[in-house]
Amino acid sequence: MSQAIKKNSEQYLYQQVIAMILEMKASGTLRPGDKLPSLRKLSKQLSLSIPTVKLAYTELERQNVIVARPKSGYFMRSTHNPLLLPKKGKLGQSPTKVNKQSLIEQVYEALHRSGNITLGIANPSTAHPCDKALARHMRQVLSKAGARAISYGPTTGFAPLKRQLALRYFNYGLQLNPEEVLVTNGAQEALSIALQCVAKAGDVIAVESPAFFGILELIESLGMMALEIPLCPEEGIGINDLTTAIKKHPIKACLFSSSISNPIGSFMSDESRKEMVSFLESKHIPLIEDDVYGDLYFTENRGTPAQCYAKKGLVLTCSSFSKTAAPGYRVGWLVAGKFDEKARLLKRALSCSTSLINQWTLAEYIAGSEYDRHMQKLREILKCNKGRMLASIHKHFPKNTRISNPMGGGVLWVELPKNIDSEQLFYQAVENNISIAPGSIFSASKKFKNFIRLSFGMPWTKEIDDALEVLGAMVNQEKLS
Ligand SMILES: Cc1ncc(COP(=O)(O)O)c(C=O)c1O
Repeated sequence: MSQAIKKNSEQYLYQQVIAMILEMKASGTLRPGDKLPSLRKLSKQLSLSIPTVKLAYTELERQNVIVARPKSGYFMRSTHNPLLLPKKGKLGQSPTKVNKQSLIEQVYEALHRSGNITLGIANPSTAHPCDKALARHMRQVLSKAGARAISYGPTTGFAPLKRQLALRYFNYGLQLNPEEVLVTNGAQEALSIALQCVAKAGDVIAVESPAFFGILELIESLGMMALEIPLCPEEGIGINDLTTAIKKHPIKACLFSSSISNPIGSFMSDESRKEMVSFLESKHIPLIEDDVYGDLYFTENRGTPAQCYAKKGLVLTCSSFSKTAAPGYRVGWLVAGKFDEKARLLKRALSCSTSLINQWTLAEYIAGSEYDRHMQKLREILKCNKGRMLASIHKHFPKNTRISNPMGGGVLWVELPKNIDSEQLFYQAVENNISIAPGSIFSASKKFKNFIRLSFGMPWTKEIDDALEVLGAMVNQEKLS
């Protein structure tokens, strides 16, 4: 064992490894960009087990001291600046009517303009596309099923896909009958059906602040009201804020991310989620959980879906393959708990069924180990891209820029200096062929004017670094003017 590591110390061995690396950083021995010894090498040098060194490296990654790069190893982060997280907002004073459509339309338009660097869209599966595998499975399905594969599918979904999904929930200890899974056109349709199951026009829905703008648009289109509950950038919704909000306002339902939120990337612990479900069920308030990012975790384990903690059937789980495999397939699902019957009726009335060939292809794809391997790789690449984008923003943006430290997903939430109007920045960026998502579309009540959301969910190229440099220059110029 090395001199630096003391077996009889009160400190755990992995903590001693962390302390050693932090000391070497403080003394300047380890500098930004330096490569660290591999897990195997350091474990040998220190006479420790590989899992002990891995634990230390994982914690140092979480603390943003080091960064893992696939196939290259571990490196010291390329910045000395401590990461400034965006500040937590205040609880909404009153429920708000949503009116966001025109700006959102322009954000979508900018995404589809050819030649644009699309930092404004959360499309993380493009970082590691699985189109070839899906094409292969689709060809097999077509040759096996012929015209049946392109006919109408059952209204509640393709049975083998529903079985595969139910099987996956069994990994978290949830015993689900495949019939309880309703296949939808993406998570967006699942969310729409879920909202219509539990509320009507004029009702108040508690949402995260900041919230995914598609949810705000849905609430707007259904004539419901949004009450914004501030997210803690690291741990998500706080039970105290939720309790206060429920005391003050007639909240009909909550619509929150399960574990990883968009755009802030907070990660709610299983313990907190369990407590929240039990609290909401005790108040008879349904929880719609949006779990589209659940599988894109950078933490040791995936967060457990809230559905697993439901005792009274009041949790409605919405998810899809849009962030993990194929957004264009439009295949999502809803587990509606006690609202199951109403959900089926709504699905039939709204869209009859979901593309059968796409469901069939996905059912075949996820049945083997191919999809799980794809997900492992996708998570690795996204985690690495996150480090690259953080480093680039640190380099090019003003020093007082605050950036989220997402625990999963594919986006960063960036708080710019107060005087920056991110809508203006959006228009300026578009002129330079860069699309970004301005902060105000993530709030029902004009919050986040000086925030932007940037996506790192794409194959990393020099053009992305260049685009971040251009954006940083715009912000710096604006800050001074
Ligand atoms: C948080 C969140 N929920 C739901 C959706 C909608 O997902 P889908 O494309 O499956 O409809 C998105 C898509 O961006 C999202 O980011």
